[in-house]
Amino acid sequence: MNAPWQHHTVLLHEAVDALWDEAAGPLPGGVYVDATFGRGGHSRLILSRLGPGARLIALDRDPEAIAHATQGPNAITDPRFQIVHAPFSSWGEVLRDLGCEQVQGILMDIGVSSPQIDNPERGFSFRFDAPLDMRMDTTQGMSAADFLAQATVDEIAEVIRTYGEERFAGPIARAIVARREEGQPLQTTGELQALVARCVKTREFGQDPATRTFQALRIQVNRELGELEDALDAALRMLAPGGRLAVISFHSLEDRIVKTFIARHSKEEVDRRVPFAQARPLLLSAVARIKPSDDEVSANPRSRSAVLRVAERTDVAWSPELVAAASPAAQRSAGKKVAGKAAGKAPARKGGRK
Ligand SMILES: C[S@@+](CC[C@H](N)C(=O)[O-])C[C@H]1O[C@@H](n2cnc3c(N)ncnc32)[C@H](O)[C@@H]1O
Repeated sequence: MNAPWQHHTVLLHEAVDALWDEAAGPLPGGVYVDATFGRGGHSRLILSRLGPGARLIALDRDPEAIAHATQGPNAITDPRFQIVHAPFSSWGEVLRDLGCEQVQGILMDIGVSSPQIDNPERGFSFRFDAPLDMRMDTTQGMSAADFLAQATVDEIAEVIRTYGEERFAGPIARAIVARREEGQPLQTTGELQALVARCVKTREFGQDPATRTFQALRIQVNRELGELEDALDAALRMLAPGGRLAVISFHSLEDRIVKTFIARHSKEEVDRRVPFAQARPLLLSAVARIKPSDDEVSANPRSRSAVLRVAERTDVAWSPELVAAASPAAQRSAGKKVAGKAAGKAPARKGGRK
């Protein structure tokens, strides 16, 4: 089914421009990945720029996104395009199954699409009273109502506190479980919104009190942060030397993961306590951090929190040892005297280096 709701692609030109260096020529070849097809805004522009022998492989975990790409008037019939219904954490296996060992560019525009938020039946939004679902992949997994029906008070509070950064996570979790124990488990977005409104004592200007709780449950139900971490690790392995990774995130929890990941693999560290210490070879160089223009934010207010980060794969060969050496634990044990400086060899692009 092709839903009527529109998606306004965020950072359309900025993200597609970031996928390759213009010096490589106007018609790049090789394999590119759009890990979050949505309604295909980025995919269509990438296809318009790719060379005749190139391939674009798209993924989405939402069956409605897959239907949009393959059926009806908006279907993409370009033979260079393929789309797979899969979570992007599994994109390494997806590509290997399609015979691709390495890719030249990966775009991730993470989070939810407007058709997901605006379709009342999906249960992502408190603007409509609907079943409390929130799954991006409606073919499997636990809905938000299922999670709230079986999790403990501590588990619910932890999710709302960590993923929603909600000060009233404890009272909200206790109220959810008390209602469940009275034989009235939460079933709808409206019931959850009303319950949260009773628990949140201080209002944030211009924001519904349920905003943080809805964000937290969405992240939990879709394992959004774990998906992102797994996909970034797989990207390091699959990107060809010189290949670009471009990630658009929409909230600080996601952006922190992307920023830390790029920094971990792109900053030189030399332990000054060790004479003649060698710098660790780096798998990435940071290229840019780009925010939507004022014009884009006025035309599409949903773009206001977006951040695009871009990194380029160096020609250092991937190995499990290098990845382990860049892990947070290995970096902590390198001690406080480690000197960090940006390795970056790639030129700064629009928006400047980060
Ligand atoms: C912001 S929209 C992408 C919009 C797209 N760039 C466009 O221009 O139409 C995000 C899309 O990513 C999908 N998505 C989010 N997390 C995913 C994941 N872990 N694996 C696969 N798809 C995911 C969502 O289902 C949604 O369709």
